[in-house]
Amino acid sequence: MAINAPEGTRDLLPDEALFWNQFKQTAAEVFGTYGYLPIDTPIMEQTELFVRGIGEATDVVSKEMFTAISGENLRRWVEEGKAPKAKSRLSLRPEGTAGVVRAVVQHDLVPQGAAPAKLMYAGPMFRAERPQKGRQRQFNQVGVECLGAEEPTIDAEAIIMLMRFYEKVGIPRESMRLLLNSMGCEQCRPAYREQVRAYMDAHAGELCETCLTRAEVNPLRAFDCKNPQCAAVMAEAPKITDHLCDDCREHYGAVKALLDGAGVVYEEDYKLVRGLDYYTRTVFEVQVDNGMGSQNAIGGGGRYDKLAEEVGGRATPGLGFALGFERCVLALEAAGVEFPRAQRCDLFVACVDDTVRARAFALVQECRDAGFVTEMDHQKRSLKSQFKLADKLGAARVAVLGPDELDAGEVTLRDMATHTEAKVRLEEVVGEMSRAIL
Ligand code: HAM
Repeated sequence: MAINAPEGTRDLLPDEALFWNQFKQTAAEVFGTYGYLPIDTPIMEQTELFVRGIGEATDVVSKEMFTAISGENLRRWVEEGKAPKAKSRLSLRPEGTAGVVRAVVQHDLVPQGAAPAKLMYAGPMFRAERPQKGRQRQFNQVGVECLGAEEPTIDAEAIIMLMRFYEKVGIPRESMRLLLNSMGCEQCRPAYREQVRAYMDAHAGELCETCLTRAEVNPLRAFDCKNPQCAAVMAEAPKITDHLCDDCREHYGAVKALLDGAGVVYEEDYKLVRGLDYYTRTVFEVQVDNGMGSQNAIGGGGRYDKLAEEVGGRATPGLGFALGFERCVLALEAAGVEFPRAQRCDLFVACVDDTVRARAFALVQECRDAGFVTEMDHQKRSLKSQFKLADKLGAARVAVLGPDELDAGEVTLRDMATHTEAKVRLEEVVGEMSRAIL
């Protein structure tokens, strides 16, 4: 029986893989203008990093991590009952923030008093979720993290940058909703959390089992519950934005004023609590409603002023976001926007018979060396089939080389759009291609 890709994973076939490359390139260009530089951290980290960074009680850490015991340690555990040390418990990264913050701490990328470090990354993330449309076990994210500044201008410029990026890749602005909230800080959130817990206790009979557990562990997560009855109860719960301390209220107000000033339209959403425990103050999410079901968040992020300390560094405020590539593709499809497909082909060199193959092969190399995407047939197809192949590849030009042409030292160069032909000397094909393309 044939073996398929693991459940919840997808192959990015060439068209989509090409778009993924373009997508990353566009991110590098847009985020680069805001001063973000690339960083590439390991795909696996010590499990402990995610437990401390993202939070033990989150779904991501408690239910969705792919964890492995490295090599020899697994054998020792199974055969000798020797439990592995923390450093040999590794997990595939479920998200990128914890690893980037770990790297910032480890390499002291934000020395005290330095300007903030602005970092961007792209790559696969892994969550053992129940697969469905828009929800995979391996998916690709592009993300940014800015560490070392707590000022609201950092929050606002990141949100503006995120919206610019979506527009640049072609997701129509009117199909997106930008949701905004503040999660408060360690000064104001604990008291607020207790108020929500007390409110939930008073309404325990109306809440689902999961929310009753949430009331114990992390009551704010109940705002996320999809059960309509829970949603109705939580709609009347105390709202964080009514319970922010003065500093958090001022910070949130400044972020909103900056977004207003930049003409960025957002909706305040008290239900937006996000699924990762590290957030403080600003949180945001971009959702699309069109045909994406419940997996409609195409990106999200927020501020995490305590995370660096959680993973053992000194106090370093931070803010970032990540967006899901596959969900952006779904959003583009739902909005009827074609994403650019298929590689271009500048020239196809066709052989009339086998006697000219060696010269054709050399011509193909010359054209490639000059930077033209050039192809030829390798399987001795008929001339007619070679033209069909050239058509399929979308070749802009076809150079036909036969024994007569070879004797005369030339090719017949056909423009596939205008169907015009001209004889071109073999040594002038590269020059002619350059002239034609210019
Ligand atoms: P997140 O909201 O968990 O945030 O994920 C960001 C985006 O990744 C989501 O909005 C979604 O587009 C995509 N995504 C998440 N899970 C899946 C999945 N199972 N299948 C397909 N796409 C998915 C974070 O990951 C934070 N690290 C963002 C951040 C950066 N916050 C601060 N800095």
